[in-house]
Amino acid sequence: MKEKIIIEEYAGKIIESLPKGILLNSQYTKFNSMVIGWGGLGTVWGKPTFTVYVREHRYTKKQLDESGEFTISVPMDGIIPSVAKICGTQSGRDINKEQTAHLTLEPPEVVHVPGIKEYPLTLECKILYAQRQELERIPEDIRVKMYPQNVDGTYYMANRDAHTAYIGEIVAAYMIR
Ligand SMILES: Cc1cc2nc3c(=O)[nH]c(=O)nc-3n(C[C@H](O)[C@H](O)[C@H](O)COP(=O)(O)O)c2cc1C
Repeated sequence: MKEKIIIEEYAGKIIESLPKGILLNSQYTKFNSMVIGWGGLGTVWGKPTFTVYVREHRYTKKQLDESGEFTISVPMDGIIPSVAKICGTQSGRDINKEQTAHLTLEPPEVVHVPGIKEYPLTLECKILYAQRQELERIPEDIRVKMYPQNVDGTYYMANRDAHTAYIGEIVAAYMIR
């Protein structure tokens, strides 16, 4: 069951939860979920938005590019360590995270990407705009630390590649009960 929420009332919860790791879900070839620690709740073009930052080689990136949609799932009682570990350190390229992390999917309302019962605060988003970051425009201290160029870019925790920022319009917001 879904209980509609007023996003502003949960802004603090969302912002506080982000650095601990919330979930970015996508669905194209299959359902997939990855941990994100960066993001932004905001307003763009007069619309309520959630912006996510996804590196080039994430399995999630292809799914976002193909489907144009995502959902955000925020835990209400803290992260579940097994979910955080699987969704934050393994790739949908290699495993089915719905099964491996024992996620209970909730059918979506507007988009085609399910939410997750175990992380009940759900934002359904349609991508309005995607922009790849230009590494040379990032302050040097951050670039050196966050985008080392002397590592492999393809392994699951790789941090060599730039992020693409996806601005998603929030088209539904609810708590899964
Ligand atoms: C706490 C935490 C925060 C993370 N934040 C991000 C993020 O904001 N953007 C990103 O591209 N990867 C982030 N990652 C890494 C991805 O979750 C990880 O590479 C994941 O395995 C990608 O899954 P996928 O290949 O199925 O898309 C984070 C990982 C952790 C543990």
